[in-house]
Amino acid sequence: MGQVEGSSRQQTQDDGSEAEVLRKGIHNSATPIRVGLLGVGTVGSEVARILVEQKDELQQRIGQPLEISGIACRDPEKVDFPWIDKSLLTADTKYVATHSDILVELMGGLEPARSLVLKALDSGASVVTANKALLAKHGPQIYRAAEEDGVDIYFEAAVGGAIPLIRPLRESLAGDRVTSVLGILNGTTNYILDEMTTKGLDFDVALKDAQAKGYAEADPTGDIEGEDAANKAAIVASLAFHTPVSIDDVTMEGITNITADDIALATAEHKVIKLLAVVRDDKDGVSARVYPALIPDDHPLASVHGSYNAAFVHAQAADDLMFYGRGAGGTPTASAVMGDIVTVARHIVQGATGPQISTYQKLPKAPLSSSHAAFAVRFCICDRPGILAAISKTFADHNVSINGINQDLKPTPHDPGYSGELQTLRVVTHRCSETTLRETVDDVCKFDFVVGEPSILREM
Ligand code: NDP
Ligand code: HSE
Repeated sequence: MGQVEGSSRQQTQDDGSEAEVLRKGIHNSATPIRVGLLGVGTVGSEVARILVEQKDELQQRIGQPLEISGIACRDPEKVDFPWIDKSLLTADTKYVATHSDILVELMGGLEPARSLVLKALDSGASVVTANKALLAKHGPQIYRAAEEDGVDIYFEAAVGGAIPLIRPLRESLAGDRVTSVLGILNGTTNYILDEMTTKGLDFDVALKDAQAKGYAEADPTGDIEGEDAANKAAIVASLAFHTPVSIDDVTMEGITNITADDIALATAEHKVIKLLAVVRDDKDGVSARVYPALIPDDHPLASVHGSYNAAFVHAQAADDLMFYGRGAGGTPTASAVMGDIVTVARHIVQGATGPQISTYQKLPKAPLSSSHAAFAVRFCICDRPGILAAISKTFADHNVSINGINQDLKPTPHDPGYSGELQTLRVVTHRCSETTLRETVDDVCKFDFVVGEPSILREM
């Protein structure tokens, strides 16, 4: 693997007088800034391409050249991109992590990513990462390490791919008070729901299509069960409210129970179903939730189609802000990573760092019992007399007020009275406590006429 010796961050550490020079913003404009890449998959390979193809332009913008100093992955033999110099490839992740001025972590996962990022920070490197799982779990430890080591940690690509959202929360809105962020932060699930809505596809068919198009991974669990969006919600909530929020604080529901019936019923009411990540700071504390929601079809988030992402931010002084763009994919995500690399490189040239991540507030987490909404619950029932009475009594017993009920009418040409056939029954409630609603649904599910899992959708 080729090495670039004596570059700026290393000199800052090894040589006090050079560090002084760097702090004053004076630098040797010929000295390359070493960029080490951990991971050269979907995103990493595109970052490498841009670093190579736009080398001269990047140097102009930064004032010093960027040079890829090493690229680590598990199996360097199988990496074959025309723009990648094979002599840079290695399986030695630790070497790359500790011999860079900017370490770009694009491996994903918790370990060894966490240890390698911490090693890089300790070695004096700044870190750029797209790893939302890592930051949602270990963000505070990593932010603290960056602060203590006097280096940068940047992660624009971790939420919303190409969309500039982290920077606005971290810098542009630093003087405002953000009160909520509502986001479509997972492209795979938005694509699936959009295909179900616009083409009438069933969930399984739409999922296979998403996989064929490369949006969903071979194991799509993290996307469809809501964990990917939940990781992003944790990161956004921490930045928006200046308080630590981890993945363990986020409640999540995915979209696996959403059927073509749910979509059709929503469409009939001029609504669409979207998987939302919702973070709020209100009187009950900070909440971070991911759930499928019914939103009016004239809401700006309803027009976010395909694999696009969007975030709707409310801040006290700024009022409403909306961010929209490609939330995934190698090239769009590489755009955000490159923005971070240039920012961090400019800081190195200036002998400075960007703003640290401020999590000085230790706000309480809002309990689930404080969550209130109107809900639409779809049950599949085996039709027979008395079902409506039993279900409405259960809702009444829990003091949950019903706003409407509908059951699809099936033709009964021979008038059997009832046939024991499977029917969809949908109950829409008035606003109520989520905890109570769930207890009510659990009780309804104890009846022997309920078949399978109900779907629970929140009205926005
Ligand atoms: P890929 O799976 O395509 O690539 C991962 C790369 O990391 C591969 O080169 C792989 O090497 C390497 N790698 C993984 N684990 C190890 C390990 N233990 N040791 C050494 N190398 C390892 O991932 P993506 O490019 O899709 O994602 C990278 C990061 O970007 C993730 O954190 C992801 O969440 C994030 N992200 C991805 C987006 C996307 O659209 N893909 C969008 C936004 C963020 P090998 O192939 O040899 O195993
Ligand atoms: N799997 C994510 C999505 C992309 O579908 O949006 C990475 O954040």
